[in-house]
Amino acid sequence: MKRACVIGWPIEHSRSPLIHGYWLEKYGIEGNYTKVAVRPEELESFIHGLAGNGYAGCNVTVPHKEHVLRIADDREAVAVAVGAANTVWIEGGRIKVTNTDAYGYMTYLTLKAPQWSARRAPVSVLGAGGAARAIVYGFLEAGVPEVRVFNRTRARADEIAAHFGSGVAAYDWTARSEGSRDAAVLVNTTTIGMKDQGDLGMDLARLDKRCVVSDIVYVPLETELLRNARSRGLATVDGLGMLLHQAVPGFATWFGTRPEVDDVLYERIAADIRG
Ligand code: ATR
Repeated sequence: MKRACVIGWPIEHSRSPLIHGYWLEKYGIEGNYTKVAVRPEELESFIHGLAGNGYAGCNVTVPHKEHVLRIADDREAVAVAVGAANTVWIEGGRIKVTNTDAYGYMTYLTLKAPQWSARRAPVSVLGAGGAARAIVYGFLEAGVPEVRVFNRTRARADEIAAHFGSGVAAYDWTARSEGSRDAAVLVNTTTIGMKDQGDLGMDLARLDKRCVVSDIVYVPLETELLRNARSRGLATVDGLGMLLHQAVPGFATWFGTRPEVDDVLYERIAADIRG
């Protein structure tokens, strides 16, 4: 019986058990995936005890994503570049980590709106937290000519630009509408759009008609940004798809089957979000 889990503090609201539970059932795999509340001070001993406790590995969420990178024996390049890990597995007794957020975002973006990649145009990233870093990395790997990062706290955008080098440019938050006129993709990685978290204040009328508008916020499923973009006839990409796709590599590693993100899974998690 193979076991995996998601750890965080707090962890009650995680939907990962629903996602992995669906796949375990779909593929008839004898295994389980649970959520475990792990306090920051317990993280190191929990990770070192994974194999001994019968776990093939785990997902890691807030506030452990940076710390687990330091605890690991081996780190994939993407996790080092992003500065955080969300997936852990044990191989040959060694603790290995990666970050699947860039994979999740880019895979779903390309599935839902493949037309974006044909344009040699800049992309706009709103926000400069951990999720923004993963997405910036994903765009650079995909070969976009310029990633523009707009953030309320300008210094954090500057940090990302300095970290990733010449392909990334930092901008003031006030430049977000004007600076996105020629963008092939606009992505919101801030918490704005979550319930009661204010308004992005984006002037979508200035965007190119071909701009793909995406949001990593998935509660609500259709954020105000996505609703406004859709009503203007722009292509949109929701945040739930990224959540589902980022779970794929971990499941494949722990349980030995590469799972599919199918419509039944999407609907099941969407229904849970709608409540
Ligand atoms: P994560 O690591 O999950 O991406 P985070 O580090 O908390 O989350 O980052 C949240 C992002 O939302 C930040 O870019 C934050 O801007 P600051 O760096 O200025 O804090 C952004 N954000 C949150 N509330 C905002 C608001 N009301 N207006 C503009 N940006 C906001």
